[in-house]
Amino acid sequence: MSILLTGGAGFIGSHTAVELISAGYDIVIVDNFSNSSKEVLNRLKVITGKKIHFYNGSILDKVFLNNVFYENDIEAVIHFAAYKAVGESVEQPLKYYSNNLTGTLVLLEVMRNHHVNHIVFSSSATVYGMDNISPLTENLKTSATNPYGYTKVMIEQILTDVAFANKEMSVTNLRYFNPIGAHESGLIGEAPNGTPNNLVPYISQVAIGKLKELSIFGNDYDTPDGTGVRDYIHVVDLAKGHVAALKNNLKNTGSAVFNLGTGHGYSVLELVKTFEEVNHVSVPFVIKDRRAGDIATCYADSSKAKEVLDWTAEKTLQDMMRDSWRWQSKNPNGYQS
Ligand code: WQD
Repeated sequence: MSILLTGGAGFIGSHTAVELISAGYDIVIVDNFSNSSKEVLNRLKVITGKKIHFYNGSILDKVFLNNVFYENDIEAVIHFAAYKAVGESVEQPLKYYSNNLTGTLVLLEVMRNHHVNHIVFSSSATVYGMDNISPLTENLKTSATNPYGYTKVMIEQILTDVAFANKEMSVTNLRYFNPIGAHESGLIGEAPNGTPNNLVPYISQVAIGKLKELSIFGNDYDTPDGTGVRDYIHVVDLAKGHVAALKNNLKNTGSAVFNLGTGHGYSVLELVKTFEEVNHVSVPFVIKDRRAGDIATCYADSSKAKEVLDWTAEKTLQDMMRDSWRWQSKNPNGYQS
């Protein structure tokens, strides 16, 4: 029996692949490499010592996906494949609804055809919207402020409805907070296409000299130092959370939702200071206006994952900054040679 990782060559998917293999699972990766690199598979072989069984293709291609299920004895799916740039989703909503929603619907149909009833979904804290107050708990009303966020809200609902209709289904929605860091080997990490939207890859590229300075979007928020506060979680802790969630999913039916965060918020300035101190580098910055759509503070109540999954994040902010820098300095151009 194998675990299928859609989008398994991506940032979260590749780190989850390492932890699944380490936990003794056989995995199959499906990826169209639209936001990842085939080189990741070579890196995974070096880290795990195992040749990765993968298929290069899109989950939108039903014939292709059916074949993957025909050729492999799939026990469960961890569904990472999606576009995830908030700003791009506002400019190109149809690209996001088509890829993220239709891709999921094709996947669910193929799973049904092959009687595969277990799915863990890569959701996001973005579903908590702008109005909920941190610490955020899983029972809060979900909403969105952009097409990317709406696809996460809608897919969570689709999965919950499917699990209600088919009593053999087991659905786990995992709401990630802010995944950062990299595997300790420095062989896999976050490799955004073009100029990074997210804070830590941007900090890393300033530190290595690829970018001139960091723009800090607003220092007039109602936070301890005025800059935005987020729940940054090490991607390896997040990956281990997927293994814990999969084990729980395989033992149950119905639908479940869990926050995967540390339960602690750090500000932009705290990250910059920690990154500089831990790595002995400089990160010049300028204060700019707030970024549209940003909220002041967002962090998890992660107690449910602790109680039900027996999982908590263990790595420190210093670990996250050190591992981010190791990945960036060993791979100045990401996976491009
Ligand atoms: C973090 C903080 C910014 C960049 C996003 C998505 C969310 C999820 C995680 C997928 C904020 C500040 C950032 C910069 C800055 N992705 N910042 N200068 O916005 O919390 O969440 O990524 O699921 O859906 O919305 O993460 O890293 O973009 O921003 O000052 O150049 O850093 O204002 O306070 P965010 P982020």
